[in-house]
Formats: sequence, C-alpha cells, structure tokens
Amino acid sequence: MYHLTPEEPADYWEVEALYDTCFAPGREALSSYRLRDGIPPVEGLSHVARDSDGILAGAIRYWPVRIGAFDALLLGPVAVHPTRQGEGLGRALIEESLRHAGPLGWDRVMLVGDAPYYNRFGFERLEGVIMPPPTNPERVLGRALRPGAWDGVKGEVRRWVD
Ligand SMILES: CC(C)(COP(=O)(O)OP(=O)(O)OC[C@H]1O[C@@H](n2cnc3c(N)ncnc32)[C@H](O)[C@@H]1OP(=O)(O)O)[C@@H](O)C(=O)NCCC(=O)NCCS
Repeated sequence: MYHLTPEEPADYWEVEALYDTCFAPGREALSSYRLRDGIPPVEGLSHVARDSDGILAGAIRYWPVRIGAFDALLLGPVAVHPTRQGEGLGRALIEESLRHAGPLGWDRVMLVGDAPYYNRFGFERLEGVIMPPPTNPERVLGRALRPGAWDGVKGEVRRWVD
C-alpha cells in the first residue's frame, strides 16, 4: 500500500516538513547536520514512501562522509509520520534503500541512533568511530555492506568535502 521511490528534487520541501513533524524542534542543531551542511545527499539512495493517494508517509536520506581514508554512508534522517508508525514502514525504508547501496559501490553505512531500534537491521556500536561533539558514542552504529568492511576503520567522521 506504500510506494517507495528514490527522492526527487520536487520532494525536497515535503520531506523537510515531514522531518519537522517527526523530530523535536532544533533538529538541524544536531552534530550530524554539520556533516551534511552544503553537501548534497547521495543520489539514488534517499527514498520517499507515499500511500496510494500520493500522501508522503515516510522518508530516508543518506549523506557521504569520510573516516580517515575510508568512505561511508551516513544514514538519516529517517522518519515515518506519527499516524503511520508501527506498520513496518521504517523497516521498509531502511531495507529498500540499503539494497541499492552495495550496487552503487558503498561498503559501509553508519548512523547516530537508538541501538534497540537499529540492532534489528544489523547495526552495531562502532568502536573508535568518533562523531563531531556532542554525540553519545553509544549511539554511533554501523553496518557492513560487505563482510569486514568496518574492520580497522577508526577515527573522526569528517565532511565529504573539507
Ligand atoms: C523510528 C521510526 C522511523 C520507525 O518507523 P516505524 O515505521 O514506526 O518502524 P517499524 O514499523 O519498521 O518498526 C516499529 C518497531 O520499532 C520500534 N521502535 C520505534 N522506534 C524505536 C526506538 N527509538 N527504539 C526502539 N524501538 C523503536 C517500535 O516499538 C516497533 O516495535 P515492534 O515491532 O516490536 O512493535 C519512527 O518511529 C519515527 O519516525 N520516529 C521519529 C523520528 C525518529 O526518531 N527517527 C529516527 C532517528 S534515530
């Protein structure tokens, strides 16, 4: 009943409004946004979910980041409208979008979020991967898109372009 499609430029402001609904005010003050400032999301990975009437129900975006000499995807924000939560749409957005990541050449994905939610998608705490402060290290999670892709990847997470 939901259609998931890659985000198009025309979706931009609707997705912003959805994020404003789903997150506390001031979301753009979060440290993860400093890694996104002035850098476009990864083309083909960010997705929107619309119902059969075309109403936006959920969205997920990805940005590229660097950790030392390595590239990684930064997953988020992901949000589902409060009236649509608990129907599996969050799972669908995460899994459908990540299905495209390997074929697009990405080896690893990280995020800042609640481990009890993201553990079910194979995300685990990343030891030694340091987000800009203030970030609780317990919330820095990663998933390998090919076996061993996080082995030896440590250091500060930096903007894609510095
Ligand atoms: C997190 C979010 C995207 C999940 O979307 P959703 O469509 O409700 O997720 P799903 O239907 O796939 O999964 C629902 C399950 O996740 C659980 N869940 C949701 N948020 C959770 C959290 N923060 N911690 C632990 N479990 C969580 C629900 O309790 C439910 O559990 P159940 O399957 O045992 O009933 C949605 O709740 C949301 O938009 N929240 C506000 C924005 C947000 O916090 N985004 C994530 C930033 S880290």
